[in-house]
Amino acid sequence: MPPEKGPLACGAEAIGRMASLERILEAARAALSPQDLKGHHLVITAGPTREPLDAVRFISNRSSGKMGYALATVALRRGAQVSLITGPTSLPPPPGAHTVSVETTTQMHQAVLQHTRQASALLMAAAVADFSPYPEEKKIEKTGKLALKLKPTVDILADISKKRKGIFLVGFAAEAGPMVGRAEEKLRAKGLHMVVFNDVLEPGAGFDSETNKVVILDRWGGKVELPLLSKEEVAYEVLDRYKALKT
Ligand code: CTP
Repeated sequence: MPPEKGPLACGAEAIGRMASLERILEAARAALSPQDLKGHHLVITAGPTREPLDAVRFISNRSSGKMGYALATVALRRGAQVSLITGPTSLPPPPGAHTVSVETTTQMHQAVLQHTRQASALLMAAAVADFSPYPEEKKIEKTGKLALKLKPTVDILADISKKRKGIFLVGFAAEAGPMVGRAEEKLRAKGLHMVVFNDVLEPGAGFDSETNKVVILDRWGGKVELPLLSKEEVAYEVLDRYKALKT
């Protein structure tokens, strides 16, 4: 492990710090892992997007980014090149990923368009805001009731499906109930190859949880129902399925 950059005992800010234990562990995991995704360039989105309401406020959701970051970490460990396009989260960027931080859905859309030119796959784990307000430049004053007018945001997956032929598209459908049918509908409507369904109302499968319980569906009729797993284990399953279907 090479030394890292940061504040040193002599007072200088330079390369010379011992790598963190987490980085050393991750390098060991990668060294021990089959490099079966070598040659794959995966673009992974994670976290929520934020839609500004005025100078200080925004509309967003509870996504923690954990599923997208787990996918990025496991893909890197298995030898993939990873571009991680992330909304605001409290997670550290996975070492080795090309991480692009965005806030709004429009910014995420632009970043995804830019990074999918040469990509093998796009995995949209981000919880993209579906609606955006008409933002006020100043801070909205409190004058009683407030009705917000919202417009739909661009559907990033549907747009990429039209513009980037040949790229493998994976969507994530978090539904509030056991509605696998809705996920299947999204698979078709957005022209996806795979969709990862989870029911956010199930214990251990909600937003910001450490675990997830998913069903992986694909356009060839495949359906894999998985038990409650850590998000890292789910990431392995999703990437195994991608690899099996892509090659
Ligand atoms: N998605 C996207 N762009 C959007 C909204 C969603 O690319 N503007 C992606 C998500 O990242 C996810 C998939 O589409 O991978 C499904 O997202 P979801 O919110 O479940 O579907 P919607 O089409 O927004 O439908 P609804 O909110 O009505 O369930």
